Amino acid sequence: MCGITGYIGENKTTDILIDGLRRLEYRGYDSCGIAAVGPKSSLYLKRVTGRVDALDKLVAEEPLKGAGAGIGHTRWATHGAPSEDNAHPHTDCSGRLVVVHNGIIENYLELKEKLPGHKFKSETDTEVIAHLLEQHLKGLHVQEKAVRSDMLEPVFFEAFRRTLAELKGSFAISAVWANCPGMLLAARMHSPLVVGLGRNENFIASDVSAFLKYTKKVVFLNDGEMAAVRKDGVDYYNFHGRKTAKDPVTIQWDSTMAEKGGYRHFMLKEIHEQAEAVENTLRGRLLPLGGDILKAEMGLSAEAIKGFTGLQFIACGTAFHACLVGRGLFENFGVPAYADVASEFADRAKLMPKGTLVVAISQSGETADTLFAMREAKTAGAKVLCITNTVGSTLTRESDYVLYTHCGPEIGVASTKAFLGQLAAIYLLAGHFAAARGRLGTADARRYAEDLLRVPRLIEETLAKEKEIARVAESFAASEHFLFISRHLNYPIALEGALKIKEISYVHAEGYAAGEMKHGPIAIIYKGMPLLAVATSGRTLELMAGNVEEAKARGADVVAIVDAESRKTVKASRYITLPSAPELFTPMLTVLPLQLFAYYVALAKKCDIDKPRNLAKSVTVR
Ligand code: AGP
Repeated sequence: MCGITGYIGENKTTDILIDGLRRLEYRGYDSCGIAAVGPKSSLYLKRVTGRVDALDKLVAEEPLKGAGAGIGHTRWATHGAPSEDNAHPHTDCSGRLVVVHNGIIENYLELKEKLPGHKFKSETDTEVIAHLLEQHLKGLHVQEKAVRSDMLEPVFFEAFRRTLAELKGSFAISAVWANCPGMLLAARMHSPLVVGLGRNENFIASDVSAFLKYTKKVVFLNDGEMAAVRKDGVDYYNFHGRKTAKDPVTIQWDSTMAEKGGYRHFMLKEIHEQAEAVENTLRGRLLPLGGDILKAEMGLSAEAIKGFTGLQFIACGTAFHACLVGRGLFENFGVPAYADVASEFADRAKLMPKGTLVVAISQSGETADTLFAMREAKTAGAKVLCITNTVGSTLTRESDYVLYTHCGPEIGVASTKAFLGQLAAIYLLAGHFAAARGRLGTADARRYAEDLLRVPRLIEETLAKEKEIARVAESFAASEHFLFISRHLNYPIALEGALKIKEISYVHAEGYAAGEMKHGPIAIIYKGMPLLAVATSGRTLELMAGNVEEAKARGADVVAIVDAESRKTVKASRYITLPSAPELFTPMLTVLPLQLFAYYVALAKKCDIDKPRNLAKSVTVR
């Protein structure tokens, strides 16, 4: 997830762009840049690695006077590590066309092959857009002198439109051409883009926070729509070039609320970004299962997949809970799999069976314990595949294979969408392993992929129960002890539910394998103790129903996370009923009510949800 912004009007373009990027920094902050049309149709371009403050300093050293069309970008890297070359805006060969982009151009490698002779300066997918646009401008016989000045804008528009038609994937794009100081173009497909309508000035941005201090009158673009933005007005079109009417709306938020998308906390916003995080992590990587689809991106061929004797997962905290789901999933497909907390792994490194693939999972890619364990594994001669959300992080630079989750920056210390992104990556890998090793036949592989692609919609359906979950959570606002229990693939979800509520509500909570209750934990149950039982349909349902009975008989106040079918079997005090899903995929749904439960208990306790006491977003010490 990155932040893009654009401006055209009579105020100082660079000031407005920088200000907008500051408000978009929560969307990405590993590098940033601005470009604007300067005097005599020159193009002004400044880019830095790091934060907007550094960009501001650079611009102040060589300010741009004037108010031509301008665009800006703050980056959360998906392709190519953070660097000045990889920072947006990206230019074409002429250096007179610039683009900024938020999203993933899936077919950028094949497009690049169609642009021989173009000089690429970055590793990004975005740069291809600038060169493709240049190619189309040339294709429209644009020798800058050969086009009448009144034709420049229509030619720019048509070249931009033709470029969009060739892109596959997700994008919010804006482009500026030095020959057209009076117009900027923007387009949206699967990444948010909004137009801000001012008085003799207009804006575009990834979200309204970038320009809310200048105008609250906005137009939200839909997928497949583009905008030609001039200072005295904006025209809207579909990608076929047909003009469309768009009604402006007035935003009621202040800019602080806007950064959180209108949510009270980043954590809640990120909970609601999980369907998109799963979609973006799966995009372009799933089909055909068991083939070489991951080879181009990460060098992981079907041959290599077949060669591994088993997997060893390592991680910390929430990422470790993802490892436990992964272990159960791979074992389900007959692949030997182990999972260890990274800080307890070192001695085991040298005992791994030969040919083990170590899977290190880390949202930040900087967790010291996970890095240490990964290095121990490499010293023992193992290949390492990392799953991370942070491009260019230390973990990626030392792993043999890198599988990025495309969740965008996770600001809340309590990890939510990164966890779902990790699960999506694990399910993706498990599908490829199972299909490549003959554990999923063609028909089953297709069904697995279809079930996985249905998960984002099921996530949205589950999150639609937020109010009901909030009510249940608020009834436990005074509780100081919580138990979470489940079995099999949802046992890690019980652990995750306990961690979430500990982290942000500071109360005591324990996650347990339900089968362990009789081996001690049942003794701590007191009358009215909150006990959350994940008991969706599947092979452990009867056993879970028994655990719930035993807990209730000892006075526990049991909230069961069920589906419509399992609800008939489980006799709880209260229920949170999820949409039905194949048992294998339930962890990606059952964690959602537990995230919301933890959030609303913390809210009721007036805790600092986004920045809980004693915790850091990334634990870079051992
Ligand atoms: C999760 O909510 C916590 N913030 C914490 O357990 C976190 O998952 C752990 O520190 C690992 O972080 P990483 O994914 O960046 O390695």
